[in-house]
Amino acid sequence: NKPQELKGKKIVITAGPTYEKIDPVRFIGNYSSGKMGFAIAEECAARGADVRLIAGPVSMKASSRIKRTDVESCEEMYNATVAEFKDADAAILCAAVADFRPEHTEEQKIKRGNEDMVIRLSPTHDIARHLGKIKRPDQRLVGFALETNDEESNARKKLEKKNLDFIVLNSTRNEGTTFRSDDNKITIISKDSVKEYEKKPKTEVAADIVDELVRRFLN
Ligand code: C5P
Repeated sequence: NKPQELKGKKIVITAGPTYEKIDPVRFIGNYSSGKMGFAIAEECAARGADVRLIAGPVSMKASSRIKRTDVESCEEMYNATVAEFKDADAAILCAAVADFRPEHTEEQKIKRGNEDMVIRLSPTHDIARHLGKIKRPDQRLVGFALETNDEESNARKKLEKKNLDFIVLNSTRNEGTTFRSDDNKITIISKDSVKEYEKKPKTEVAADIVDELVRRFLN
C-alpha cells in the first residue's frame, strides 16, 4: 500500500489517441496505445487521488476506482476535459490528440476513383493550451512532448506556450519506447530544472511523474 499523498486531490488525466472522422468508416488517428496515461491514472489512484480518466479509443482496462469517460474525437476530449478541470487540482495530459481534423466529415463512405483525392484539414482545439489559459494558481498542469528531433528545445517551447508546470519529454529516437511499448525513457523539464531518467517500464515511469507532481503541490 502506497502513502496516500494525493488523498483529497482530483486529478484529470487524458490518454490514448483521438480519431477524427473522414467518413462513416474512416478516420485520422495515431499509434498511441494509452499505456502511459493509464499507468499514470493507476498510480494517482493508488496514492489516493480521485482520478477522472478521459480516454480516447484504446483497448485498455482501468481499475474500478478510476472514473473513466470514453471519447473519440479531440472535440469530445476537449469538452470532457475542460468540464472536469474546473474543480480539479491537476490535469496530466498524456493523450496524443490529433492536431488537425477533416474540415467536413462525409455522410456516406467515399467511393474509390482514379483521380487524386484531397482531404482538407482544419486545426483542432489545443486542450493543453486552453487549460493553461484558465489555470488558477492552485492548479497544476502537466503535458507531454513526443518529439522526433530538437527534443529539448521543442519541449521547452510547449512548456511555455501551454503554460505547463512541467512537461514530460520522450523521443521516438529511443528504441523500444513511446508508442505501444511497455517501456519509456523520459526527461522532465520545467522552467528551472531538467531531470533525465533511465529507460524503464511505463508503470515505474508513471511513479516518477507522479512523484514530481506531488512535489509541485508542495510549492
Ligand atoms: O503540441 P503538441 O501536440 O506536441 O503538445 C503535446 C501536449 O499537448 C500533450 O500534453 C498533449 O496531450 C497536449 N495536446 C492537447 N490538445 C491538442 C494537442 C496536444 O491537449 N489538440
